[in-house]
Amino acid sequence: MTAFRTSAFVGIGVAAAVALAAGASFGQGPDAALEARIAAADVAAGQVLASQCTICHTLDAGGNAVIGPNLYDIVNAPIARTPGYNYSAAMAALGAAGATWTVELLDAFLASPAVTVIGTRMGFAGIRDETDRTNLIAWLRLQSPAPAALTALPQTDPTTPVFQGYQADSGQLYYGEYCGNCHGPTGGGEDGVGPPLNGPIFEANWNGRTVWEFFNWTRRFMPADEPGGLEDQMVARILSYVLQENGYVRGDQPFLVDREHLETLVFRF
Ligand code: HEC
Ligand code: HEC
Repeated sequence: MTAFRTSAFVGIGVAAAVALAAGASFGQGPDAALEARIAAADVAAGQVLASQCTICHTLDAGGNAVIGPNLYDIVNAPIARTPGYNYSAAMAALGAAGATWTVELLDAFLASPAVTVIGTRMGFAGIRDETDRTNLIAWLRLQSPAPAALTALPQTDPTTPVFQGYQADSGQLYYGEYCGNCHGPTGGGEDGVGPPLNGPIFEANWNGRTVWEFFNWTRRFMPADEPGGLEDQMVARILSYVLQENGYVRGDQPFLVDREHLETLVFRF
């Protein structure tokens, strides 16, 4: 009945943590169901939930440790990574054992900090609602220059066709009209107004994220001089072209504007 669970994690005491060999992971490894929920999560709702963390934590890049350590880029980061911060023995031991904040461990920890890391000094009761936790973790994951890949989901590599040729061809024309002046003639970011839409920076930013997120973000916030000004079908065509410039191939599958479908497509560059 209740969504509350700590999945595979029983409490990790100091002794158990110390017993973990350096680099060892624990728990059951990637949880595909959790990752699928993260891919489909309501990131805006997660941002609202994060306000309850700011009583003790800063969340921005380079923020100071306050009562708790800074949490920017925390997903997949080493546990107890902040130099000079006075971690509990339990947290420090996990860090010394080489453990990292996987989404699975974060999910368990945020459900019940005291039960998951026995002896933690984080005086926070936990978030019992599974959807709330997922939304929060999804938001935390994006607070990073290169969001952690969701490895348990099926990955879509460039040899998997996700659009049809006519979409990319017409998309190229629309791209020239609506995007090229800020992102460069073919998306290389030459003009320095918008970031590159292909190449290493773009790949690092989108690797492991879903095509749905890419589509939904773009249709809401782009073109930057008229956010949300383009129809979904036009955005689909423009993104087909952008994908083509990233090495994705044409196929007989159209770029379907369908959330459920696009959420199954995960970038792998
Ligand atoms: C009442 C203060 C308080 C609140 C509220 C709080 N935390 Fe913490 N948090 C701490 C403290 C103190 C630590 C250090 C724990 C330790 O050393 O055992 C910590 C540690 C952490 C860590 C480990 C960081 C690292 O460097 O390994 C994570 C992750 C974390 N908190 C996430 C959260 C999130 C997400 C929220 C909001 C839902 C939150 N915390 C709310 C006080 C708080
Ligand atoms: C007026 C200039 C401008 C125009 C026109 C414009 N963009 Fe952008 N674009 C930006 C800026 C600036 C950013 C960075 C803003 C941010 O990250 O919030 C950005 C970010 C992006 C991103 C995110 C890149 C990343 O790696 O996070 C995508 C995708 C994108 N734009 C696509 C488009 C598409 C597609 C169009 C045409 C429909 C377009 N943009 C039109 C200026 C523009």
